[in-house]
This record gives sequence, C-alpha cells and structure tokens, in this order.
Amino acid sequence: MVASATTPFSVLIREASRQQHTEAEGSAFMGALLGGRLGVDAYRRYTEQLWFVYRALEDGAEGLAGDPVAGPFLRPELARTASLERDLTHLHGGEGWRGSLVPLPATAAYAGRVARLVREWPGGYVAHHYTRYLGDLSGGQIIRGKAEKAWGFARKGDGVRFYVFEGIDNPAAFKREYRAALDAVPVDDLEKQRIAEECRRAFALNTAVFRELGEEFPLSA
Ligand code: HEM
Repeated sequence: MVASATTPFSVLIREASRQQHTEAEGSAFMGALLGGRLGVDAYRRYTEQLWFVYRALEDGAEGLAGDPVAGPFLRPELARTASLERDLTHLHGGEGWRGSLVPLPATAAYAGRVARLVREWPGGYVAHHYTRYLGDLSGGQIIRGKAEKAWGFARKGDGVRFYVFEGIDNPAAFKREYRAALDAVPVDDLEKQRIAEECRRAFALNTAVFRELGEEFPLSA
C-alpha cells in the first residue's frame, strides 16, 4: 500500500503486513496445531518459544514507559510472561522447566531482535508490540478454543492462560483504543514506513519459528 499523509497509521501497518499475516496463518505447523493433528508436546514446545519472545518484549520494557512513542502502548493488562509461566508449569507438570529451556534458533533470533529494539529503537519495539499483542487479542482466541478441545485444558485455565487477558473485559474496545494510539504515534511519515517494515520483519520472525517447529514436529501423514 502506498503511504499517504491521510492514511491512519493503524491502517497503514495492518495493510503493510496483510500478506505476512496470511502466510503466518497458513503455516503448516499452525494448520496442524489448529487442526488437532499434533500432540500436546508440540503445543508445549510452541508455548516455550512464546515464553522467550514475551520475556524479550516485557523484560526491561518499563524503561520505555516515559518514551513518547512506545510509552502509550505499555499496558500492564497485556503482560503475558506470568501467564506463560503458569501454563509452562502445567504443561511440564512442575517447575522443573525453569532454567532448562532452550529456544529454537529462530526463537533466539526473534527474541534477540526484540531485546535489542527495547534498548535502541522505540518505534521498532512498537512494531513488535503490535504484531504480538494485537494478534493475541484477535486470532489468539481461536487458538485457545482449539487447544482446550484438543488437549483437554480447563476453559481459560492452566495451559491456555496466555490467551486469557483477565484485565481486558472488552477486547474489541481495547483494540479500538490501541489503534487510536497507533494513529496518534508522534513520528513522521518516514519513521512510520520504517515501523511498518519492522512489522513485516516481526511477522517473518514468527513464521521462521513456525517453520522450525514444523521441522521438529513433522506430520507423519
Ligand atoms: C492460525 C493463526 C492465526 C489466526 C487464525 C489469526 C486470526 C486473526 C483474525 C481473525 C484477526 C482479525 C481480528 C479483527 O479484525 O479484529 C487477526 C488479526 C491480527 N493478527 Fe492474526 N491470526 C493468526 C496468526 C497470527 C500470527 C502468527 C500473528 C503474528 C505473530 C498475528 C497477528 C495479528 C495481528 C497483529 C492482528 C491485528 C491486525 C489489525 O487489525 O491491525 N496473527 N488475526
């Protein structure tokens, strides 16, 4: 899409990543996971990858609280690390997973990129924030329902807490506010283009993780 001064940034960033969204959604691993064709071990491995990514998104992000670009997006009700840790403790049957998890190479690259942006580029951080949290509030809800059914987790309980935003009663309203914050982001058009480009990169980093997960859990069919 061609950027113009009149295109709201929330529209620009969504359109800029539409193609990548379709690719991520269509990844073989996601399809197999959502189709109930993989075991809970694949779901656990996927959840482990998310833990590395959200730690990168959330550790140290408080340092961005006063930043005019990234600050408005840092909402405590979005934080996922604690929920992921409860899910992982459930999925591993105890706390033993702590200190022993190893990220896939694609996950290490993804988390490394995010950790760097937390320190170096608030606008780029916003691209990653958008890609994950707005996605979790959207398609993430579909994943929760499938996971509960496929592997027998309690509804909104341990195993799928990552997908449950206890502090957000109305996700649609929250997403509207989030888009309004995107539209108000105080940067020029060139920086908006850079952020949109980083958003495409964020999707590509997710797709790379799915690819490696797909290699680790090939479908025998
Ligand atoms: C099978 C997997 C997925 C499904 C079924 C799915 C589904 C959806 C749906 C239905 C929406 C639209 C919600 C709305 O209009 O309010 C959405 C939005 C979104 N998804 Fe996904 N998605 C998937 C994977 C992903 C992945 C892997 C990412 C990135 C990591 C992602 C990021 C996003 C983002 C950022 C939005 C918000 C777009 C916007 O309105 O600006 N999604 N997703």
